Amino acid sequence: MYSSVYLIFSIVLISAVSTIPPIFATDHIVGANKGWNPGINYTLWANNHTFYVGDLISFRYQKNQYNVFEVNQTGYDNCTTEGAVGNWSSGKDFIPLNKAKRYYFICGNGQCFSGMKVSVVVHPLPSPPLAAVAAEHSSQNSTAAAVPRPGFRALAVSFALIWFGSSGL
Ligand SMILES: *[C@@H]1O[C@H](CO)[C@@H](O)[C@H](O)[C@H]1NC(C)=O
Ligand SMILES: *[C@@H]1O[C@H](CO)[C@@H](O)[C@H](O)[C@H]1NC(C)=O
Ligand SMILES: *[C@@H]1O[C@H](CO)[C@@H](O)[C@H](O)[C@H]1NC(C)=O
Ligand SMILES: *[C@@H]1O[C@H](CO)[C@@H](O)[C@H](O)[C@H]1NC(C)=O
Ligand SMILES: *[C@@H]1O[C@H](CO)[C@@H](O)[C@H](O)[C@H]1NC(C)=O
Ligand SMILES: *[C@@H]1O[C@H](CO)[C@@H](O)[C@H](O)[C@H]1NC(C)=O
Repeated sequence: MYSSVYLIFSIVLISAVSTIPPIFATDHIVGANKGWNPGINYTLWANNHTFYVGDLISFRYQKNQYNVFEVNQTGYDNCTTEGAVGNWSSGKDFIPLNKAKRYYFICGNGQCFSGMKVSVVVHPLPSPPLAAVAAEHSSQNSTAAAVPRPGFRALAVSFALIWFGSSGL
């Protein structure tokens, strides 16, 4: 009786986790403890981080003093906000990096010329979710160890499998 409840719950859990995005996305705080301010070389900061699809980039600054515009390469090179894709001004802006591409962000009030510009390359997730699940099932195969970022799904699936196992099924 209880076993079938566990079985059904485990199946629901496995199907649920395979459809939601990873929960352990990284929040990359631009400039770390220096934040979003003039006079900082954000190329050095960006080179020190690896960005994956689903991560966040966040800008922390004095509200009303600075802002953030997402622009294209021309806007980044020339410090212009013409044709900007988006703009933020809360002082604590969390921007999802949902595509594998190069993103360009600048400050739109002229401080771009003082270095307030950052460009980051967002990489696709290293492995599709099905590969992670398959790797969990083939314990003899070392694929799982080679997956650098198994994420929430793989963790949840292992959890479900352990639970499954200990429930006596
Ligand atoms: C920032 O650092 C990069 C990498 O060292 C360098 O190529 C670039 O010229 C620097 N930018 C500024 C504005 O100093
Ligand atoms: C790069 O990252 C390391 C480790 O997090 C840190 O100690 C170092 O200060 C960072 N360098 C830059 C330029 O952000
Ligand atoms: C903007 O930058 C591009 C290079 O990305 C350059 O060819 C163009 O002349 C610049 N335009 C202005 C108005 O500065
Ligand atoms: C960037 O957007 C501007 C304005 O929409 C456009 O004129 C320019 O060609 C675009 N540059 C690139 C590299 O796409
Ligand atoms: C900022 O974005 C909003 C939409 O989110 C848009 O209506 C507004 O025109 C943008 N502002 C500028 C200066 O581009
Ligand atoms: C592990 O799996 C991969 C892909 O399915 C396969 O190519 C490889 O030969 C397997 N390795 C072992 C040791 O079974």
